[in-house]
Order: sequence, then structure tokens, then C-alpha cells
Amino acid sequence: MIPAAADMKALVQVEDLAKTFDVSAPWLNRVVERKPRQFVHAVDGVSFSIPKGQTLALVGESGCGKSTVARLLVGLYAPTRGSVHFGGHDTAKLKGAELRSLRRRMQMIFQDPYASLNPRWKVLDIVGEPLREHGLAQGGDALRDQVGELLRSVGLAAADCVKFPHQFSGGQRQRISIARALATEPEFLVCDEPTSALDVSVQAQVLNIMQDLQHRQGLTYLFISHNLAVVRHVADEVGVMYLGRLVEQAPKKSLFSQPRHPYTRMLLDAIPDIHMSGRARTPVQGEVPNPLNPPQGCAFHPRCPHANARCSSERPALRTIAGIRVACHAVEEGRI
Ligand SMILES: Nc1ncnc2c1ncn2[C@@H]1O[C@H](COP(=O)(O)OP(=O)(O)OP(=O)(O)O)[C@@H](O)[C@H]1O
Ligand code: SF4
Ligand SMILES: [Mg+2]
Repeated sequence: MIPAAADMKALVQVEDLAKTFDVSAPWLNRVVERKPRQFVHAVDGVSFSIPKGQTLALVGESGCGKSTVARLLVGLYAPTRGSVHFGGHDTAKLKGAELRSLRRRMQMIFQDPYASLNPRWKVLDIVGEPLREHGLAQGGDALRDQVGELLRSVGLAAADCVKFPHQFSGGQRQRISIARALATEPEFLVCDEPTSALDVSVQAQVLNIMQDLQHRQGLTYLFISHNLAVVRHVADEVGVMYLGRLVEQAPKKSLFSQPRHPYTRMLLDAIPDIHMSGRARTPVQGEVPNPLNPPQGCAFHPRCPHANARCSSERPALRTIAGIRVACHAVEEGRI
């Protein structure tokens, strides 16, 4: 299991991370319509750590805060609360050269390989840009060689560097994104639904390339997906998010064989025969509540078959029970 946040061997440590967005109507509208300000607690007190060379996957339905966690980790958003430590350094305290070096050591791969590549640039410029920006290539020939090597590492040809993004398939474009992310020789890759836009067969190829790179280069991944079959393929550890909070975190094997939280159980029950037991698939029940007006107590209680009075009034804390982190009164009380 991934060690507690205090373990210094972890490459990435996230402690009580939170991000609140102000989604209020403009001031004048609020005054005229007598509306209060409104806030979305997109991420609300998330803590985890990832040891070097391991993959933590984050799963959960749309809007639960996965991408916001990803953006907070790589510095695209400033946290409202909490901290991110990388290699033992508090990322919020780094400035100048130290911050640039940190940015080099962590990279992000986005979901949409069509939108994330500049259509007017050749692959040489797309993959070579971070090399130039960080002064990692000495001269044009060296840059071309390095880009060629990066393209080969993701199963493309060095000669592809003269082409434009529109000359590639979706899977090939995502390989170009991975090659670009690898250009600065990062240690940590944050992958936000990197294969969701791809066909199933192409997904497997890209996932295999990512796993191969991890083994060869010792990469550490935060891997975000709503697809549990993909998570099962790539993760060492899985964190399940619901309305901005982690509700369960466990090693992949125990999460899939013995899910504890009722929400994790609901997600697993929705996958076609994940345990190969001949059990029928049960579609996910109910809908995610409005994040502007989340339920009191356990946010999952309106959808939970095990909810009782305590659940609707008291929010369960994430506790370590038998080596698994889980936030559920019923699990804590031994009711389920
Ligand atoms: N820039 C923003 N401004 C306002 N609200 C935002 C912003 N980004 C995210 N949110 C809100 O924060 C919540 C979490 O969004 P986020 O994109 O992190 O979810 P997600 O788990 O990645 O969802 P999906 O699976 O659909 O990608 C949502 O309610 C979303 O509407
Ligand atoms: S705390 Fe209660 S409502 Fe929430 S998941 Fe556990 S049993 Fe269900
Ligand atoms: Mg997202």
C-alpha cells in the first residue's frame, strides 16, 4: 500500500489539498436579483502520497474534482488550502531557478490529443519546444536527434518530425503528447484521462507504451480515469473521489476484490463482470448531487443503500481501517 503522507520516500505528497472556485453571478446581477455569492468546493481536503516509480489512479464520476487535483499538482491552479510536496520540497515555497527545475521534473498529459497540439506546428517544434525552453538541446542537429529519439521511445518514427498533427491518428497524436511530456526527462507525469478520447484497441497500445516507459525510466504517475478497466490495467494504488473528497484509497488488488466504500462498490458493480463471477452488471444508481449545494453529512448519503441518521448529519472522516483508507460510518461501525 502507498505509505502515509509523512513517509519521506514518497516522491509526491499532497496534504489537505483544497480548491474553491467562486462561481457567483456578476456583482450587479447579484444585487438586482438578490442572489448570494456561490462557491464550488471542487477539491476539499485531499491527502495522499505516491512513492517513486508507482502509479496512483484517481477515479470517480464527472465533476468529482479529478482534473482539479491534477491541475493543482502541476501548478496550473494555486490551492485554496493545503500543500503539495515534491521530492521533499514544498512546491509553494519554490521560486526562480528552483521553480523552473521543478516544472521540468513534472509534466502533464491531457485528455484531448486534438486540442493539446498546436495544429500549425510541425512535430519537431511541438516536441522540441520544451527542449529549447529549458536549454536542453545544443543546436539544430542535436534538437532533431533528441526529438527523433523521443519519437522512437513512443513507437513513432524519427522521420515523423517533419509532419503536422493533422497527419496523425488520435492514438499517434497522444504518443506525440507523451513524447513532448518526456522531453524534459520528468520524474512525475500527471495523466488526465490520457486515453479516453481513443478507440479501445488504440487505448491499449498507448497504455502499454506508458507502462513500458515507467519500467524503463522509473516514472511516477498520477493517472486519472473514469474507466475502471483502464485503472485496473495501470494502477498500483487507487483513490476513489466523490464530490471533491477521497472516499477510499487502497492497493489495486484489494480495491477490486474487496471494495469497502458503498460508492466504490457501486462503481465496480457497474463494470461488466469485473470479478468474472457471472454476476449481473448493475448500472450506477442515482446522480451526483449539485456541487453548489452538496448534501450535509456524508455527501453520498442520498444514493447510499446503507445510509442512516448519522450519515445525513455527520461527515465521515477518512480513516485507515485494516490497511485501507475509507470514509464511511458503516464500515467504521462494522455494519458492512
Ligand atoms: N475553472 C473552474 N471554474 C469554476 N468551476 C470549476 C472550474 N474547474 C472545475 N470546476 C468545477 O469543479 C468541479 C470539479 O471539476 P473537475 O473538472 O475537477 O472534475 P472531473 O472529476 O475532472 O470531471 P470530468 O470527469 O468530467 O473530467 C466541478 O463541479 C466543476 O464544475
Ligand atoms: S457514511 Fe453512511 S451514507 Fe456515507 S457511504 Fe457510509 S453508509 Fe453510506
Ligand atoms: Mg476531468
